[in-house]
Amino acid sequence: MVKKVVTIDGPAGAGKSTVAKTLARRLGYSLLDTGAIYRSVALVANQQAVPWDDAARLAEVARDLAIEFKFVGDLNSTFVAGEDVSSAIRTPEISQGASQVSAHGPVRAALLDLQRRLGSAGGVVVEGRDTGTVVFPDAEAKFFLSATDEERARRRVEELRLAGKPVDYDVTLAEIRERDHRDSSRDVAPMKAAEDAVVIDSSTMSIDEVVDAMVDAMAARRG
Ligand code: DC
Repeated sequence: MVKKVVTIDGPAGAGKSTVAKTLARRLGYSLLDTGAIYRSVALVANQQAVPWDDAARLAEVARDLAIEFKFVGDLNSTFVAGEDVSSAIRTPEISQGASQVSAHGPVRAALLDLQRRLGSAGGVVVEGRDTGTVVFPDAEAKFFLSATDEERARRRVEELRLAGKPVDYDVTLAEIRERDHRDSSRDVAPMKAAEDAVVIDSSTMSIDEVVDAMVDAMAARRG
């Protein structure tokens, strides 16, 4: 069977990463986390004192980004210039930075080929905001995963608490709303469901229920 591309788009905290990982394992596919790419651009920009509104210099950072993904144990880890940045790119500051750098057309253009190249072998589950609409418009299956703002904030607080980095619920909810607004209202490749995407609201679903729904939708489409 030809191995293809499955896209999962949606807002922060909808469960994309865990669902993508579980679905990839079930299908025997690899994983491509496009958010980690934008986050890495924000991180390098920060290290090089490039402001998040300087589109031209950010596009240079994006073009020069030496990014690799490797599994370290069970973790899909992100390396930039050989250094494991998996934790450094997950701070609230870099979350907002990634959202800001990703709104610039030249940055997105610089990263488009990279994303297509990383997914070119097929047999990959790709997660992000525009992977079904812009990056892989011909994907075999497309999903848009969402959940209520409150539930997404609750999950993010819990995730960071477990990681030993407790954050305030109200602050997190406000940050999530700010990021969603920016990601869905930008001019270039805004976050939205592709016309042929299956939309899933995960608010009251477990990870396994979401993945089951995806596998069923893929089977129904093939059948
Ligand atoms: O999925 P994430 O939270 O790791 O993504 C971080 C930011 O990167 C997100 O707020 C918007 C941006 N992003 C994007 O614009 N397009 C993508 N395909 C993936 C992420």
